[in-house]
Amino acid sequence: MRATAQAPSKVIISGEHFVVHGGWALAAAIGKRVTVEVEPSDKLAVTSDAFGGSSALSPVSKVVEYMASRYSFSPDLRFSISSEVPGGAGLGSSASTMVAVAAAVSRVKSLELGRGELVECAMVGEQVVHGRPSGVDAAACAYGGVLLYRPGSRPRAVRLDGKRRMLVVFSGSRRSTKRLVSHVADVRARLPAYFSGLAESAADLATLAAERLKEGDMEGLGRLLTYNHAVLSAVGVSTPRLDQLVDLLLSLGCYGAKLTGAGGGGSVLAVTAEGREKRIISEVTKRGFEAFVSVIPVAGVKSWQRP
Ligand code: MEV
Repeated sequence: MRATAQAPSKVIISGEHFVVHGGWALAAAIGKRVTVEVEPSDKLAVTSDAFGGSSALSPVSKVVEYMASRYSFSPDLRFSISSEVPGGAGLGSSASTMVAVAAAVSRVKSLELGRGELVECAMVGEQVVHGRPSGVDAAACAYGGVLLYRPGSRPRAVRLDGKRRMLVVFSGSRRSTKRLVSHVADVRARLPAYFSGLAESAADLATLAAERLKEGDMEGLGRLLTYNHAVLSAVGVSTPRLDQLVDLLLSLGCYGAKLTGAGGGGSVLAVTAEGREKRIISEVTKRGFEAFVSVIPVAGVKSWQRP
């Protein structure tokens, strides 16, 4: 049997980094996807149009080997991965890949795993890539939609009564989530009182942002995003380029903007009135940034058999 799985990527609307230390994050799946095809083979083999070099693919092998041992089957499978998600852009390309791989394996081996189990399997690869991830990226890619997430609690789905539009602007500089997560852990260890002040001021943002999003109050959501950016900046994960990009988006009429994901480069998430998006995208594109609108909610990972 052959199978295909497809997983969305994600944006963090609020709460990145603090989620690694036990806070709530609000994340949404977005419609840039990773597709994984799998078929039987005489050995475990992974090819990809998305990642260069075999070392970038070793987390994928780790997920497959882990699943082979956990569910007792031979890992001799051939994977082919294609991605619409730019790597190092803060949009969860690795989580999306690991979740799609886990779902493809589940389908080809008829394991019928639930989303929680897919996340557990994907996390084996995420740990190789990110060191100490909270699991929010993998949960967003597996469950889809919008969710409130905290390590150790069941993800809470945030149900929207209609579509919401998110503007994503890639700063053009790629970065390593692992390095930034360890930078924040360092700040916490060196300056515990400072860190806990920042964590406290960020504590309710994810739940407040979820309420604004549900109400469709994009102006209110925007204010929370900009505030969240300031807190992330204070913890040292923004860059002058990201701060300037946030400022540019605000000056162009966005209701709010923030870095999304690990920071240190990557992407900025913004919200604005629908009528203004075209002009904002054209202005940021003129300045050399890539931008797109993502309409949420989008479905989580899915998989199917191929003849
Ligand atoms: C990355 O998308 C989000 C971080 O909080 C890391 C994590 O939660 O694993 C920076």
